[in-house]
Formats: sequence, C-alpha cells, structure tokens
Amino acid sequence: MTNAPVPPQRLLFVCLGNICRSPAAEGVFLHLVKQRDLDDHFLVDSAGTGGWHVGRPADQRMQAAAKRRGIDLPSRARQLDLGDLEQFDLILTMDADNLLAVQNLAREAGERATAQVRPMLSYARRHQLSEVPDPYYGGEDGFEDVLDLLEDACEGLLEELSPRA
Ligand code: 4NP
Repeated sequence: MTNAPVPPQRLLFVCLGNICRSPAAEGVFLHLVKQRDLDDHFLVDSAGTGGWHVGRPADQRMQAAAKRRGIDLPSRARQLDLGDLEQFDLILTMDADNLLAVQNLAREAGERATAQVRPMLSYARRHQLSEVPDPYYGGEDGFEDVLDLLEDACEGLLEELSPRA
C-alpha cells in the first residue's frame, strides 16, 4: 500500500503592520524550511491586523537586517481577514495586541474559525520574552533583536511541526 500524500501545514504569521515582524518571521521560517528540504511540507504567509501598509514590501531596515543573515523577505503587506481563520492551520502572533485582535476575529467567525492561534515566542527556547517588540519607531538594533527572537522561535516551531521519520 502506498502512503497518501500529506497536505502541507498552513502557517500564517501576524503582526500589526505586516512590514516588519511578520514578514521577517515568514522569511526566517522559509529559510529554515529550505535549508532542511522541507518546502513541500509547509505553506507560509503573513498578514497585519492593520491595513495602513497594504501592498508594500517589507520595511527597508528589516530587509537589510535579514539580508545580512542571508535571508530574503519577499512578502507584500496585506491585512488579516476572516477567511484566514478558515484557511490556515496555525496563526502565530507577535505580541499580545495581535493575539487579542486575532481572537476577536475568531469570535466573529464562530465555528468557521478552525485555525489554532499561538504566540510566536511560545516556541522560543533560548529567550524568555513573551512578545516580539515592535521595531518600527526604534533604531537599527531593534531589527537585529527581532531577528534573534524569530530565529529562536522559528527553530522551535519547525522542530515541533517537522514530519517525524
Ligand atoms: P510591524 O511593525 O507590526 O512589525 O509590521 C509596524 C509597522 C508599522 C507601524 C507599526 C508597526 N505603523 O504604525 O505604521
């Protein structure tokens, strides 16, 4: 008997503007997935709870910091919507405000909302913070700190979700 193909796990990273933290999370996760040849196992996207930056690429400062680590951030900003709660298996939020916004949307969607919702840093193993700080109004260091946190959390997340041999 042959094994039926396993559908990819659908992950959505969410922050406020979808130009700094969640595109970085998406890029870091995709980078790890490619390194481990697990591309077929995951469908990854990101979105913002706010719509101010819809259509824009990731913030230049975030892109530059990621590039220094060899990571591309290909995403264009879009706003989270009700359908995301049906279409994704797992939604990962960067801070407590994002978590609340997603939970409120899930309440609105009722039984149609099948996605699990988890704070991104619940998967971090080397850091104790519970939120990824918003780097938008800060200096260069903030973008590096975001990437340190996201690399840690993405490794933990991938470890948890990776297919077992
Ligand atoms: P993000 O950062 O939520 O990580 O994308 C922000 C980007 C833009 C704004 C706030 C946070 N803004 O106020 O425009």
